[in-house]
Formats: sequence, C-alpha cells, structure tokens
Amino acid sequence: MLFNDKEIIILGIETSCDDTSIAILKNNALLSNVVYNQDVHNKYGGVVPEFASRAHLLNIIPVLECALDKASIKLSEVNAISFTNGPGLMGSLLVGNSFAKGLAVALGKPLIAVNHLHAHVLSHFIKLEDNQSFPTFPHLSLLISGGHTQIIIIHDYLKYEIIGNTLDDAAGEAFDKAAKMMGFPYPGGPYIDNCAQKGNPHKFQFPIPTIPNLDFSFSGIKTSLLYFLRDNIQKNQNFINENINDICASYQRCIVDFLILKIKLAVKQTGIREVTLSGGVSANSEVRRRFKELENENIKIYLPPKFLTTDNAAMVGIVGYYKYLAGMVDDLKVVPFAKC
Ligand code: KG4
Ligand code: ZN
Repeated sequence: MLFNDKEIIILGIETSCDDTSIAILKNNALLSNVVYNQDVHNKYGGVVPEFASRAHLLNIIPVLECALDKASIKLSEVNAISFTNGPGLMGSLLVGNSFAKGLAVALGKPLIAVNHLHAHVLSHFIKLEDNQSFPTFPHLSLLISGGHTQIIIIHDYLKYEIIGNTLDDAAGEAFDKAAKMMGFPYPGGPYIDNCAQKGNPHKFQFPIPTIPNLDFSFSGIKTSLLYFLRDNIQKNQNFINENINDICASYQRCIVDFLILKIKLAVKQTGIREVTLSGGVSANSEVRRRFKELENENIKIYLPPKFLTTDNAAMVGIVGYYKYLAGMVDDLKVVPFAKC
C-alpha cells in the first residue's frame, strides 16, 4: 500500500516516559509540538512509573486540544496517527498506544507505531524553516539520552544499523546519577551542565573507560566519582560545596572526551564523515561545543535545536510521515514493548 496524497497531516503522540507530548506535522514540516513535563516526580529523585502513567491519562486530551489549536488543524483533517510504541515505561506506553488506537478507530485513519530511538535519530529531518539543510545518507548518528547511548548508521529514513551500544548505564544516567551524588534534583544533567560552565574542566581527573570497539560503558566513571567524593568528604565536609563547579566541569569533560573518542573511531571505521546528535544529552553545552569543533577535522556535525533534544512528539510525527509514505501502517493488535 502506498499513499500519494500531496498534503499529509500527521499526528504524533509521545508518552514513553514522563513527558506527555502531541505534535502535528504537515508533510515533514512542524505545525505544533506541545510537551507537558510532569512535575509529580520531582521530590522522588527519579520517575515513578505509576505516577507517570496516571499523569499521561490526565494530560493527554488537553495536550491534544492544545496541539490542534496551535496548528489550526481539525482532528478530521488528520491523515494518520503515529505514536511511540517502545521502548519505555510499560504503563506510560500503554496510555499512548490505547489513545492512538482510539483515535485511529474513531477517525477511520491509519495507525503507525514508532520506535522511540528511531524517532530521536530522525528528529533532524523535521522541517523548521525554509532552506534548511538535512543530513544525507548514509550518515552516523550518536544517540545520547537518559535510557540509551548508541552509534547508528542511518542508511535511509527507515533503515538503520546499530554499530555501538552501552554495556551498562546510558550517558544521561551518568549525568543524573552523578548529579544525585552531589545533591541536585532529578534529572540532574542540566544542573551539571550549568555548574560546569563556571568550573575548570582540568582541575580533577576521572578515568576515560577503555571499552573495545564502538561500545560504551559509564559505570566506571560514575564509580570513580563516588569514591572521589567519599575520600574528599572524609577530609573536608564541605568539599562538594566548595568545589562544585570544578567537579562538574571535570566529570563532564571525561564523558564528552569519551563520546568524542568513540565517534572519531566510528568515522574512521566506516569512512562516513557526517554525524547527527540526538537525545537529551545532546542539549549539553560542552557536548555541543566539542562536537561542533570536529568540523575542523572535516566531519560535518548536525546538532538538533534544543527543544528537539529531549522527548517530544514532533520526532514521532516525522517517523510517522516517512512510514506513511512507505505504506508501513499497523493494525489494532500492535502491543507496546518496554525494552529493545
Ligand atoms: O532523550 P531524553 O529526554 O529521554 C530519554 O529518552 O531517555 O533524555 C533525558 C536525559 C536525562 O538524563 C537528562 O539529565 C539529560 O537527558 N539531559 C542533559 C542535559 N539536558 C538533558 N544532560 C546533560 N546536559 C544537559 N544540558
Ligand atoms: Zn527519549
């Protein structure tokens, strides 16, 4: 089945974790992208899955109404319903899955299940302005989020190959767990980023992991920070407070050095000199600065606009658009999956 409509309106739904988001796209162009960040989790130091699914239930209809309103689109004009079907929290995914199915049945429109990681990597193909330049194929994609750290060859909109993966924590977890040790609220990545901007990245040394090939591991960096803090606090109770900016800058430098090392290796191994970054950690200012510097080494770097780095439905809609063009639609039997 191949659809040939000239003007396709795609609705995207994202509920994989703790953000309720709905976007409307006209072909590849973004008309609206509404994200409701749940704050019920703040005092628990992490996402509470049961709270997340309940908050999605409460918020999803107002978020839909707001997205339609901002796009000046009526529900009856939507051509297809795309939604995140995994990986993520099962309860949260079930809300998006059921809501999408309900809409598809009520409107008599196709249903398109989207992989959350695929959505992050295709966020670079969302049209936001005229004369925008898009990555070409094949290119490399570094996905650095709260749940995943992967290097992927993107052969085409719908064809990709994972060539590197984390063996334990994701880059976002390395930030969030370190932030927790230093007393920051969840998610702590942006707090580390903020303090690091005022600190000396060479003040303290943390070991860059020696993991073979294109894989990652962040548990060693995290443990070295834990012991470093423990030893120094024994000598000085106020060690964290007195050195917070330098600790954050030094720890962050170690993570960024590791990411750069791996992407350079991927470029060398594949011969592909075009790299896109995606996922929440690609909002990090040092990640952005250091990767942009790689352009001096003849590696073309695409950084997503900050509002597309963390979870959003626009990226779900863009995968929905390309799957729709290819006639890749799902039936009502499609079930969510928590893990890849
Ligand atoms: O992509 P995302 O919204 O969620 C997943 O799909 O996992 O990424 C969330 C992650 C969190 O770990 C958060 O701390 C991290 O992205 N993050 C950052 C920054 N902004 C978000 N990490 C470092 N620096 C930032 N500025
Ligand atoms: Zn994500």
